Amino acid sequence: MVAVDNLLTGRMTNLEHLQHEPNFAVRQLDICEPFDCGHVDYVYHFACPASPVDYSTHGIATLRVGSLGTFNALEIAKKYGAKYLISSTSECYGDPLQHPQKETYWGNVNPIGPRSVYDEAKRFSEAATAAYRRYHKVDTRIVRIFNTYGPRMQLNDGRVIPNFMKQALRGEELTVYGDGKQTRSFCYVSDEIEGILRVARSADSGPINIGNPSEFTILECAQQVLAVTGSKSRIRYEPLPQDDPKQRCPDISKARELLGWQPTIDLPTGLKKSLEYFRLAAGVA
Ligand SMILES: NC(=O)c1ccc[n+]([C@@H]2O[C@H](COP(=O)([O-])OP(=O)(O)OC[C@H]3O[C@@H](n4cnc5c(N)ncnc54)[C@H](O)[C@@H]3O)[C@@H](O)[C@H]2O)c1
Repeated sequence: MVAVDNLLTGRMTNLEHLQHEPNFAVRQLDICEPFDCGHVDYVYHFACPASPVDYSTHGIATLRVGSLGTFNALEIAKKYGAKYLISSTSECYGDPLQHPQKETYWGNVNPIGPRSVYDEAKRFSEAATAAYRRYHKVDTRIVRIFNTYGPRMQLNDGRVIPNFMKQALRGEELTVYGDGKQTRSFCYVSDEIEGILRVARSADSGPINIGNPSEFTILECAQQVLAVTGSKSRIRYEPLPQDDPKQRCPDISKARELLGWQPTIDLPTGLKKSLEYFRLAAGVA
Protein backbone atom coordinates (compact mmCIF):
# COMPACT_ATOMS: atom_id res chain seq x y z
CA MET A 1 0.00 0.00 0.00
CA VAL A 2 1.33 3.44 -0.93
CA ALA A 3 0.00 6.62 0.69
CA VAL A 4 0.59 9.82 -1.26
CA ASP A 5 0.37 13.16 0.54
CA ASN A 6 1.96 16.60 0.14
CA LEU A 7 1.34 17.34 3.84
CA LEU A 8 -0.56 20.53 3.01
CA THR A 9 -2.97 19.88 5.88
CA GLY A 10 -1.86 16.41 6.99
CA ARG A 11 0.84 15.44 9.49
CA MET A 12 3.33 12.60 9.26
CA THR A 13 2.82 11.94 13.01
CA ASN A 14 -0.67 10.62 12.14
CA LEU A 15 1.04 7.74 10.31
CA GLU A 16 3.69 6.95 12.96
CA HIS A 17 1.86 3.81 14.10
CA LEU A 18 2.18 2.41 10.55
CA GLN A 19 5.90 3.03 10.04
CA HIS A 20 6.92 -0.59 10.74
CA GLU A 21 4.24 -2.12 8.50
CA PRO A 22 6.20 -4.01 5.81
CA ASN A 23 3.61 -3.39 3.08
CA PHE A 24 3.11 0.32 3.69
CA ALA A 25 5.01 3.25 2.19
CA VAL A 26 4.49 7.01 2.09
CA ARG A 27 5.49 9.31 -0.77
CA GLN A 28 5.45 13.05 -0.19
CA LEU A 29 4.15 14.52 -3.43
CA ASP A 30 1.49 16.82 -4.80
CA ILE A 31 -1.16 14.95 -6.78
CA CYS A 32 -1.87 18.09 -8.82
CA GLU A 33 1.30 17.13 -10.74
CA PRO A 34 1.15 13.86 -12.72
CA PHE A 35 2.50 11.03 -10.55
CA ASP A 36 2.95 7.28 -10.71
CA CYS A 37 3.95 5.01 -7.82
CA GLY A 38 3.73 1.82 -9.83
CA HIS A 39 0.99 -0.76 -10.24
CA VAL A 40 -2.02 -0.46 -7.91
CA ASP A 41 -5.30 -2.37 -7.71
CA TYR A 42 -7.29 0.37 -5.98
CA VAL A 43 -7.00 4.16 -5.87
CA TYR A 44 -8.56 5.84 -2.83
CA HIS A 45 -8.62 9.57 -3.48
CA PHE A 46 -8.93 11.39 -0.15
CA ALA A 47 -6.57 14.29 -0.87
CA CYS A 48 -8.17 17.68 -0.21
CA PRO A 49 -8.05 20.36 2.49
CA ALA A 50 -11.24 19.44 4.33
CA SER A 51 -11.93 21.73 7.27
CA PRO A 52 -13.37 25.24 6.86
CA VAL A 53 -10.15 26.78 8.19
CA ASP A 54 -8.01 24.72 5.80
CA TYR A 55 -10.02 25.22 2.63
CA SER A 56 -10.44 28.93 3.34
CA THR A 57 -6.67 29.32 3.83
CA HIS A 58 -5.87 27.13 0.80
CA GLY A 59 -8.77 28.06 -1.52
CA ILE A 60 -6.89 27.77 -4.81
CA ALA A 61 -5.10 24.57 -3.73
CA THR A 62 -8.52 23.13 -2.87
CA LEU A 63 -9.85 23.88 -6.35
CA ARG A 64 -6.65 22.49 -7.89
CA VAL A 65 -6.70 19.20 -5.99
CA GLY A 66 -10.40 18.72 -6.74
CA SER A 67 -9.80 19.24 -10.46
CA LEU A 68 -6.16 18.54 -11.52
CA GLY A 69 -5.55 16.17 -8.60
CA THR A 70 -8.72 14.24 -9.36
CA PHE A 71 -7.78 13.90 -13.05
CA ASN A 72 -4.30 12.62 -12.08
CA ALA A 73 -5.77 10.09 -9.61
CA LEU A 74 -8.27 8.92 -12.23
CA GLU A 75 -5.47 8.57 -14.79
CA ILE A 76 -3.67 6.18 -12.42
CA ALA A 77 -6.81 4.06 -12.11
CA LYS A 78 -7.26 4.10 -15.88
CA LYS A 79 -3.61 3.17 -16.56
CA TYR A 80 -3.57 0.16 -14.21
CA GLY A 81 -7.20 -0.94 -14.62
CA ALA A 82 -7.60 -0.22 -10.90
CA LYS A 83 -10.81 0.46 -9.03
CA TYR A 84 -11.18 4.03 -7.82
CA LEU A 85 -13.02 5.71 -4.92
CA ILE A 86 -13.42 9.45 -4.41
CA SER A 87 -14.22 10.89 -0.98
CA SER A 88 -16.92 13.42 -1.71
CA THR A 89 -18.87 15.32 0.89
CA SER A 90 -22.23 16.37 2.27
CA GLU A 91 -21.12 19.89 1.21
CA CYS A 92 -22.27 18.88 -2.29
CA TYR A 93 -25.78 19.47 -0.92
CA GLY A 94 -24.86 23.05 0.13
CA ASP A 95 -27.49 24.69 2.33
CA PRO A 96 -30.03 21.96 1.57
CA LEU A 97 -33.67 22.56 0.75
CA GLN A 98 -34.47 18.87 1.27
CA HIS A 99 -34.12 17.21 4.62
CA PRO A 100 -32.65 14.73 5.37
CA GLN A 101 -30.45 14.65 2.28
CA LYS A 102 -30.82 11.72 -0.11
CA GLU A 103 -28.24 10.96 -2.79
CA THR A 104 -30.81 11.94 -5.44
CA TYR A 105 -30.88 15.55 -4.18
CA TRP A 106 -28.79 17.85 -6.41
CA GLY A 107 -28.06 20.45 -3.76
CA ASN A 108 -28.27 24.17 -3.13
CA VAL A 109 -24.74 25.51 -3.46
CA ASN A 110 -23.61 29.12 -3.86
CA PRO A 111 -21.03 28.73 -6.67
CA ILE A 112 -19.14 31.95 -5.81
CA GLY A 113 -19.48 32.16 -2.02
CA PRO A 114 -16.64 31.60 0.47
CA ARG A 115 -17.38 27.85 0.77
CA SER A 116 -17.51 27.37 -3.00
CA VAL A 117 -13.79 26.51 -3.31
CA TYR A 118 -14.54 23.32 -1.41
CA ASP A 119 -18.13 22.59 -2.45
CA GLU A 120 -17.56 23.12 -6.16
CA ALA A 121 -14.18 21.32 -6.12
CA LYS A 122 -15.96 18.27 -4.75
CA ARG A 123 -18.86 18.58 -7.17
CA PHE A 124 -16.33 18.80 -10.01
CA SER A 125 -14.52 15.73 -8.59
CA GLU A 126 -17.80 13.83 -8.70
CA ALA A 127 -18.43 14.96 -12.30
CA ALA A 128 -14.90 13.94 -13.38
CA THR A 129 -15.30 10.58 -11.65
CA ALA A 130 -18.64 9.95 -13.37
CA ALA A 131 -17.09 10.97 -16.72
CA TYR A 132 -14.14 8.56 -16.38
CA ARG A 133 -16.65 5.82 -15.63
CA ARG A 134 -18.76 6.80 -18.65
CA TYR A 135 -16.03 7.49 -21.21
CA HIS A 136 -13.08 5.37 -20.00
CA LYS A 137 -14.93 2.54 -18.21
CA VAL A 138 -12.98 3.11 -14.98
CA ASP A 139 -14.64 1.16 -12.14
CA THR A 140 -15.45 4.08 -9.83
CA ARG A 141 -17.18 4.68 -6.49
CA ILE A 142 -18.36 7.97 -4.99
CA VAL A 143 -18.86 8.21 -1.23
CA ARG A 144 -20.43 11.33 0.29
CA ILE A 145 -18.95 11.71 3.76
CA PHE A 146 -20.86 13.64 6.42
CA ASN A 147 -19.21 15.30 9.48
CA THR A 148 -16.77 12.83 10.94
CA TYR A 149 -14.82 13.18 14.20
CA GLY A 150 -12.42 11.32 16.43
CA PRO A 151 -8.77 11.11 17.51
CA ARG A 152 -6.03 12.70 15.32
CA MET A 153 -8.20 15.64 14.21
CA GLN A 154 -6.40 18.97 14.22
CA LEU A 155 -7.38 21.03 17.24
CA ASN A 156 -7.65 24.34 15.37
CA ASP A 157 -9.32 23.27 12.15
CA GLY A 158 -12.57 25.13 12.79
CA ARG A 159 -14.76 22.03 12.98
CA VAL A 160 -17.36 21.90 15.70
CA ILE A 161 -16.16 18.99 17.82
CA PRO A 162 -12.43 19.79 18.08
CA ASN A 163 -13.37 23.42 18.72
CA PHE A 164 -15.78 22.60 21.54
CA MET A 165 -13.51 19.93 23.04
CA LYS A 166 -10.52 22.28 23.09
CA GLN A 167 -12.52 25.15 24.57
CA ALA A 168 -14.27 22.94 27.16
CA LEU A 169 -11.04 21.24 28.28
CA ARG A 170 -9.20 24.56 28.58
CA GLY A 171 -12.09 26.16 30.47
CA GLU A 172 -12.64 28.68 27.67
CA GLU A 173 -16.05 29.84 26.44
CA LEU A 174 -17.59 27.56 23.76
CA THR A 175 -18.13 29.54 20.55
CA VAL A 176 -21.58 29.00 19.03
CA TYR A 177 -22.32 30.69 15.72
CA GLY A 178 -25.84 32.13 15.26
CA ASP A 179 -28.43 30.94 17.77
CA GLY A 180 -27.03 27.40 17.84
CA LYS A 181 -30.27 25.90 16.51
CA GLN A 182 -28.66 24.85 13.20
CA THR A 183 -28.23 21.09 13.09
CA ARG A 184 -25.37 18.73 12.29
CA SER A 185 -24.92 14.98 12.47
CA PHE A 186 -21.62 13.54 13.70
CA CYS A 187 -20.18 10.17 12.69
CA TYR A 188 -17.45 8.55 14.76
CA VAL A 189 -14.37 7.78 12.66
CA SER A 190 -14.41 3.96 13.00
CA ASP A 191 -18.04 3.86 11.80
CA GLU A 192 -17.15 6.15 8.89
CA ILE A 193 -14.17 4.00 7.82
CA GLU A 194 -16.25 0.81 7.95
CA GLY A 195 -18.91 2.49 5.76
CA ILE A 196 -16.31 3.74 3.26
CA LEU A 197 -14.75 0.27 2.98
CA ARG A 198 -18.16 -1.24 2.34
CA VAL A 199 -18.75 1.30 -0.45
CA ALA A 200 -15.32 0.41 -1.88
CA ARG A 201 -16.21 -3.30 -1.96
CA SER A 202 -19.79 -2.90 -3.17
CA ALA A 203 -20.92 -3.20 -6.78
CA ASP A 204 -22.73 0.17 -6.66
CA SER A 205 -20.85 3.16 -8.09
CA GLY A 206 -22.70 5.61 -5.83
CA PRO A 207 -22.91 8.27 -4.74
CA ILE A 208 -23.64 6.76 -1.33
CA ASN A 209 -24.06 8.84 1.85
CA ILE A 210 -21.98 7.64 4.78
CA GLY A 211 -22.69 9.52 8.00
CA ASN A 212 -24.60 9.36 11.23
CA PRO A 213 -28.30 10.25 10.85
CA SER A 214 -28.70 11.25 14.53
CA GLU A 215 -29.23 14.98 14.30
CA PHE A 216 -28.19 17.45 17.00
CA THR A 217 -28.47 21.20 17.23
CA ILE A 218 -25.10 22.86 17.76
CA LEU A 219 -26.28 23.84 21.25
CA GLU A 220 -27.10 20.20 22.08
CA CYS A 221 -23.66 19.23 20.82
CA ALA A 222 -22.08 21.88 23.08
CA GLN A 223 -24.01 20.45 26.03
CA GLN A 224 -22.84 16.91 25.23
CA VAL A 225 -19.23 18.12 25.14
CA LEU A 226 -19.65 19.91 28.48
CA ALA A 227 -21.12 16.72 30.00
CA VAL A 228 -18.34 14.43 28.71
CA THR A 229 -15.50 16.77 29.68
CA GLY A 230 -17.10 17.80 33.01
CA SER A 231 -16.33 21.40 32.02
CA LYS A 232 -18.06 24.45 33.49
CA SER A 233 -17.34 26.58 30.40
CA ARG A 234 -20.01 29.03 29.32
CA ILE A 235 -21.31 29.53 25.79
CA ARG A 236 -20.48 32.64 23.73
CA TYR A 237 -22.60 33.49 20.69
CA GLU A 238 -21.04 34.92 17.51
CA PRO A 239 -22.56 35.86 14.11
CA LEU A 240 -23.30 33.02 11.70
CA PRO A 241 -20.72 32.78 8.85
CA GLN A 242 -21.97 33.32 5.27
CA ASP A 243 -23.64 30.28 3.63
CA ASP A 244 -23.45 28.21 6.84
CA PRO A 245 -25.92 25.32 6.29
CA LYS A 246 -28.93 25.42 8.63
CA GLN A 247 -29.51 21.68 8.57
CA ARG A 248 -27.31 18.75 7.72
CA CYS A 249 -28.40 15.16 8.15
CA PRO A 250 -27.81 12.17 5.87
CA ASP A 251 -30.52 9.86 4.65
CA ILE A 252 -28.60 6.56 4.87
CA SER A 253 -31.36 4.26 3.53
CA LYS A 254 -29.17 3.42 0.52
CA ALA A 255 -26.17 2.43 2.70
CA ARG A 256 -28.45 0.41 5.00
CA GLU A 257 -30.07 -1.48 2.14
CA LEU A 258 -27.09 -1.97 -0.19
CA LEU A 259 -24.25 -2.32 2.31
CA GLY A 260 -25.99 -3.44 5.50
CA TRP A 261 -24.17 -0.51 7.12
CA GLN A 262 -25.25 1.88 9.84
CA PRO A 263 -23.32 3.68 12.56
CA THR A 264 -22.91 1.92 15.89
CA ILE A 265 -21.34 4.65 18.04
CA ASP A 266 -23.53 7.46 19.39
CA LEU A 267 -22.26 10.98 20.11
CA PRO A 268 -21.66 10.64 23.89
CA THR A 269 -19.77 7.36 23.34
CA GLY A 270 -17.68 8.82 20.49
CA LEU A 271 -16.85 11.90 22.54
CA LYS A 272 -15.71 9.68 25.44
CA LYS A 273 -13.56 7.62 23.08
CA SER A 274 -11.96 10.84 21.78
CA LEU A 275 -11.47 12.49 25.16
CA GLU A 276 -7.96 11.27 25.92
CA TYR A 277 -6.69 12.38 22.50
CA PHE A 278 -8.23 15.84 22.85
CA ARG A 279 -6.86 16.20 26.40
CA LEU A 280 -3.33 15.53 25.15
CA ALA A 281 -3.78 17.74 22.08
CA ALA A 282 -5.17 20.58 24.19
CA GLY A 283 -2.28 20.25 26.64
CA VAL A 284 -4.48 19.55 29.66
CA ALA A 285 -3.59 15.91 30.32
N1 LIG B 1 -13.56 14.80 8.03
C1 LIG B 1 -14.78 15.02 7.57
O1 LIG B 1 -15.72 15.24 8.36
C2 LIG B 1 -15.07 14.95 6.09
C3 LIG B 1 -16.37 15.19 5.65
C4 LIG B 1 -16.63 15.14 4.29
C5 LIG B 1 -15.63 14.81 3.39
N2 LIG B 1 -14.37 14.57 3.85
C6 LIG B 1 -13.33 14.27 2.84
O2 LIG B 1 -12.49 13.23 3.28
C7 LIG B 1 -11.15 13.45 2.83
C8 LIG B 1 -10.20 13.41 4.01
O3 LIG B 1 -10.55 14.44 4.92
P1 LIG B 1 -9.82 14.64 6.32
O4 LIG B 1 -10.81 15.20 7.26
O5 LIG B 1 -9.07 13.41 6.68
O6 LIG B 1 -8.83 15.84 5.95
P2 LIG B 1 -7.27 15.97 6.13
O7 LIG B 1 -6.90 17.39 5.84
O8 LIG B 1 -6.86 15.40 7.44
O9 LIG B 1 -6.73 14.99 4.98
C9 LIG B 1 -6.59 15.40 3.66
C10 LIG B 1 -5.16 15.09 3.22
O10 LIG B 1 -4.99 15.47 1.86
C11 LIG B 1 -3.67 15.97 1.73
N3 LIG B 1 -3.60 16.80 0.51
C12 LIG B 1 -4.24 17.97 0.25
N4 LIG B 1 -3.92 18.41 -0.98
C13 LIG B 1 -3.07 17.49 -1.52
C14 LIG B 1 -2.37 17.40 -2.76
N5 LIG B 1 -2.50 18.34 -3.71
N6 LIG B 1 -1.58 16.32 -2.98
C15 LIG B 1 -1.42 15.37 -2.04
N7 LIG B 1 -2.05 15.42 -0.83
C16 LIG B 1 -2.86 16.47 -0.58
C17 LIG B 1 -3.45 16.75 3.01
O11 LIG B 1 -2.07 17.02 3.29
C18 LIG B 1 -4.10 15.83 4.04
O12 LIG B 1 -3.19 14.90 4.61
C19 LIG B 1 -11.15 14.79 2.11
O13 LIG B 1 -11.24 14.56 0.72
C20 LIG B 1 -12.41 15.46 2.60
O14 LIG B 1 -12.94 16.36 1.67
C21 LIG B 1 -14.06 14.64 5.17
